[in-house]
Amino acid sequence: MSRLVVVSNRLADPRKTASGGLAVALGQALQASGGLWFGWSGKVVEDGTPGEGDVHLQTAGPVQLATVDLSREDHDSYYLGYSNGVLWPVFHYRLDLADFDAGFIGGYRRVNQMFAHKLAALLRPDDVIWVHDYHLIPLAAELRNMGCQQRMGFFLHIPLPPPLILAAVPEHEWLMRSLFAYDLVGFQSEADVAHFSRYVGTETSADILGEHEFRAFGKTLQVQAFPIGIDVDEFTALGRGQEAIDMYEQMRDEYSRRRLLLGVERMDYSKGLPQRIKAFRQLLQNYPENLGSATLIQIAAPSRESVDAYAALRQELESLCGSVNGDFGELDWMPVRYIHRSVARKRLPGLYRAASVALVTPLRDGMNLVAKEFIAAQDPEDPGVLVLSRFAGAAEQMRDALLVNPYDTTRTAETMQRALQMPLEERQRRHRALLQQIREQDVHWWRQRFLNALNAV
Ligand code: ADP
Ligand code: F6P
Repeated sequence: MSRLVVVSNRLADPRKTASGGLAVALGQALQASGGLWFGWSGKVVEDGTPGEGDVHLQTAGPVQLATVDLSREDHDSYYLGYSNGVLWPVFHYRLDLADFDAGFIGGYRRVNQMFAHKLAALLRPDDVIWVHDYHLIPLAAELRNMGCQQRMGFFLHIPLPPPLILAAVPEHEWLMRSLFAYDLVGFQSEADVAHFSRYVGTETSADILGEHEFRAFGKTLQVQAFPIGIDVDEFTALGRGQEAIDMYEQMRDEYSRRRLLLGVERMDYSKGLPQRIKAFRQLLQNYPENLGSATLIQIAAPSRESVDAYAALRQELESLCGSVNGDFGELDWMPVRYIHRSVARKRLPGLYRAASVALVTPLRDGMNLVAKEFIAAQDPEDPGVLVLSRFAGAAEQMRDALLVNPYDTTRTAETMQRALQMPLEERQRRHRALLQQIREQDVHWWRQRFLNALNAV
């Protein structure tokens, strides 16, 4: 059997807590199949030489980890600069936040070339290579330049925007052309596939051979949607663990006279945090029966803090939470509990279960795994309600959630109220349908479907 080689910028020790959909999902997928996981070590060498970095080899269960350090210059131009200062905002439709500094592209190319060199030295001829996310779009093209002929697939964890937004990236043609070095490209949703197809149709002279097949630059490429899932069984088992139970009981006792609404994510402008706090304010204003009772627990884990837009978001969020608490709080009730830290993964299911309502309201999101984890953690007899943004990839699958437009503050507040008031029978029915959906299309289904498609190319 061929060995699976996974390449991603961010790695996680599969046995430890990770905040970020990619690390969580890949950790679980690789635990199942074994293989090699290659990427950045997470270490920045202050006086390191750009384009160079030591490789560290480690074993974690059935997975061999190979990680590379980045010099300060590479980290700042490839990771902070091009990946998170250009591609991330543009792919999340935020042209206003993109910093098209011409210097960043040099670092992005250099690190992709360096990764290709280091990885090529570890490859076997019959390896199957699966590259992940926007940090590494040109990796296959670099590997092909070096003569690597292995099967190569690419999966984009974030959305692909419509052609006219993508075209704002000065290097868009080069990026999209680089995708044709892969044999298979996967996106999270049908909307992303449609954007790819429209881009290829309008911006290139490619032939569209079929719904999923494109020919350009002398290469045929398969493109398909593979919505990522979670490991439902693993997450349910985590919920039966002592740490999750302790968490649940602690929350239940502390908030026995309250109704909990919960938000959990990285502190990221794509997640719609200010809009959510504004909608929660309207909930308190428009439905005063919630005063003294409804409590929003907002966990926002630190992320990419040296990118300006993230620092600005933190300030805005802190000020919004402070003003809701100042305007509505009582000596014995604070409407918003805002925590700028991550929660240990083992405790997370207990927190989800204690909540009556989950607020997963990104302005744009590739998929959003928190929505799926929330459903997996619920008590089927007395489940909480999922309020989900129609702009999350998950909304294509999770039709039984209460779907909202997070830009529409008044209706989002109305939907929060509807969620808090929802009769038990309706909650159970919606939860049953959602649970079945996330079970059918879980992380194993995602991995298997992608790899089957890659092997079939
Ligand atoms: P993204 O990939 O943009 O971070 P996802 O919702 O797809 O968003 O994935 C986030 C993953 O990271 C989930 O598995 C979630 O449980 C975890 N996570 C996110 N924020 C936190 C947090 N504050 N504390 C603990 N885990 C978190
Ligand atoms: O899932 C999207 C994603 O950007 C991953 O690629 C990334 O690992 C995760 O979010 C967390 O972001 P970061 O790796 O920048 O901390």
